[in-house]
Amino acid sequence: MKLHQTRRHWDRLADTDALWAVLTTPDKKGNRWPIDEFFATGRTTVDAELAGVRALCPDLESGAALDFGCGVGRLTQGLAPHFARVVGIDLSEKMLARAREHNRHGDRVRYLHNPHPDLRLLADNQFDFVYSLITLQHMEPEYAKAYIAEFVRVAAPGGAILFQVPSQRPAEKPIGPLLTSSPELFYKRARRRLRRLWRIWFVTEPLMEMHALPRAEVEALLGRSGAEILNVYRYDAAGSALESWGYLARKK
Ligand SMILES: C[S@@+](CC[C@H](N)C(=O)[O-])C[C@H]1O[C@@H](n2cnc3c(N)ncnc32)[C@H](O)[C@@H]1O
Repeated sequence: MKLHQTRRHWDRLADTDALWAVLTTPDKKGNRWPIDEFFATGRTTVDAELAGVRALCPDLESGAALDFGCGVGRLTQGLAPHFARVVGIDLSEKMLARAREHNRHGDRVRYLHNPHPDLRLLADNQFDFVYSLITLQHMEPEYAKAYIAEFVRVAAPGGAILFQVPSQRPAEKPIGPLLTSSPELFYKRARRRLRRLWRIWFVTEPLMEMHALPRAEVEALLGRSGAEILNVYRYDAAGSALESWGYLARKK
């Protein structure tokens, strides 16, 4: 999907079941996430991961952090006790409206809407910590790669960058080429394609796209963008069979 289409789908997800769209725990579907429990997952995750980051970067500064794809601010709020200033950025204005409602840290936390395929709203070299979880998988790989290079640009020299992205996509039944000698098959495939396009264009049912980036490609990209990789580790979401990786890097 193009970015403007992805945005409409996330706006719709935010309108219908925002917290479940962020954390798709099956028994929480249908607006069943208790809000305190939901935000507590953000604090626990950030506390544990920052401890790991500080173990490898003991001199990490506590000035500013960026949460890319912040959604309703689950992790942004978790970052606020650790940094003087936190920026959460997201493609969906509706997600951001919910995030602002739940902000408990006043002006120290800012939420920005970014509809662009880069981070042009943010100046170079300003964040001590750049963070992104369960976001890069929900966009076409070309966009995800551009944002990863931008993470390095906006990180302060010596700043840490931590993000997760799967290296495997869920298996999808391919539709197959339209050019076929069987009129029946042609009709069936054309109908499937049209149904999918209809769903994308008219957001009849919101879609959560799933994409992946091969580990070697991510590592090469980080190196080209000016970051040194400190650690790459398995980062598999609970209940998901897909291989996913966490990347911890430091801007040179
Ligand atoms: C599954 S939610 C994760 C939210 C948050 N990272 C967390 O873990 O609580 C994915 C978020 O990514 C956002 N998103 C999708 N594509 C984006 C893009 N190109 N730029 C910024 N945010 C994007 C969606 O709007 C959604 O809020």
